[in-house]
Amino acid sequence: MPSLLLASSLICVFLFFFCSLEKGFALQRTSVDVDDDSHQHVVLLTSLLPSPTCSSSIKGSKRIDRPWAFKGMKTTLDVVHKHGPCSKQNKAKRTQTSHSEILNLDIERVKYIHSKIPKKSEELGLKQLDSTTLPAKSGSLIGSGNYFVVVGLGTPKTELSLIFDTGSDLTWTQCEPCAKSCYKQQDQIYDPSKSSSYSNITCTSSLCTQLSTATGNDPGCASTSKACIYGIQYGDSSFSVGFFSHERLSVTDTDTVDNFLFGCGQNNQGLFGGSAGLIGLGRHPISFVQQTAAKYHKTFSYCLPSTASNVGYLSFGAARASSYVKYTPFSSNSAAGTSFYGLDITGITVGGTKLPISSSTFSTGGAIIDSGTVITRLPPTAYSALRSAFRQGMSKYPPASSLSILDTCYDLSGYKIITVPKIIFEFGGGVTVDLAAAGSFYVASVKQVCLAFAPNGDDSDVTIFGNVQQKTLQVVYDVGGGKLGFGVGGCK
Ligand SMILES: *[C@@H]1O[C@H](CO)[C@@H](O)[C@H](O)[C@H]1NC(C)=O
Repeated sequence: MPSLLLASSLICVFLFFFCSLEKGFALQRTSVDVDDDSHQHVVLLTSLLPSPTCSSSIKGSKRIDRPWAFKGMKTTLDVVHKHGPCSKQNKAKRTQTSHSEILNLDIERVKYIHSKIPKKSEELGLKQLDSTTLPAKSGSLIGSGNYFVVVGLGTPKTELSLIFDTGSDLTWTQCEPCAKSCYKQQDQIYDPSKSSSYSNITCTSSLCTQLSTATGNDPGCASTSKACIYGIQYGDSSFSVGFFSHERLSVTDTDTVDNFLFGCGQNNQGLFGGSAGLIGLGRHPISFVQQTAAKYHKTFSYCLPSTASNVGYLSFGAARASSYVKYTPFSSNSAAGTSFYGLDITGITVGGTKLPISSSTFSTGGAIIDSGTVITRLPPTAYSALRSAFRQGMSKYPPASSLSILDTCYDLSGYKIITVPKIIFEFGGGVTVDLAAAGSFYVASVKQVCLAFAPNGDDSDVTIFGNVQQKTLQVVYDVGGGKLGFGVGGCK
């Protein structure tokens, strides 16, 4: 008996020592997850909140601690959040976009995506009505596009902060002389007359004709110069119209792309958050990904940081095969259309329990991944299953009022460390991806921390895997290889 007691206390001592060691190690290693079992995250609340200052120097890529970003990546850019301290837009303007404003813009983007993607039932009779002929009338695509990169345009180059967007194709920037209108931007406005590498494209060129499918609008033609004119509208008040042109694009100081096709915007309006324009990473032939296929082999990857005070990355070029990235095939489902990247969602597990959702729930409307949609939109039946499982796992925390489309919020102001049920997505090919704790919440304040999922209008609407859920994951788009990869712990 005494020896048993001795043995068990020894085990306890040993376990205690081991556990504290483990905890200390985990804390040092990532500061995000304090401890982890397979079913829940135990996290420091502060790890979900942005600090008032940017955690990294964002000029010059090598100073940043992101060991995985460089593994075989050809070209790497810093990614910063539009509304955080790492964005120079934010420093200059200091106009804080409110959380309900951000979420309302997100609603507009989802409306726009749903309008671009015909539902399966409608598709039968209206096969020809794809994005070629569907004008993008409702919804603001850009307003909620949250992440920027800085690239150079022209010779000598002008540095421009562009929103990167996997949900659209045309790259454009505001252009001098802003013949009709330019909105306020932080960077100096690019001036083609000062660049030796700029050239117009004529409206008779086949390059010009491609605009119809990329923008949803037929191109125009300037009366005297016969320059090709593009027009793209994203919503009620957001648009860009100008010359479709060739120019040298400096992705980094050493990596340039000659004759890059872009829109030189002479009439621009909308909520572009002070950015100079947009870089389109969609699937259409005029997207950045397709235009740079010879150089980067249609492969890019990014990591969106856990909070707005951290810096992520956007890399172009083949990632070295790394064992921690798991791949799911891009879906050929019609949801993807010409621009979007489709994927198959087959199940969701919350806190160790697989949700009772039939696989047809997800396949009915299909699914896409989007860098510009903030909140993941699920079929309503899937959302209610996820919500009740999540609420059950969070039942010890006091609830807080809802925020726009987010109806499951908590007041965590009394806590330093929280225990959060793990959300695991299962994708086509049996790939499972653990979302980070930061990928489960939209944090308005410590008093209002909300489950960052929302239901679609009905089960036939396309499911959208949004950017909160992608936080800290390395997301690899191997477009040539037809597959999408997820790696846990891609950035902080
Ligand atoms: C491009 O076309 C515009 C519009 O006609 C014209 O003003 C401009 O001079 C042209 N630029 C070049 C480099 O040809």
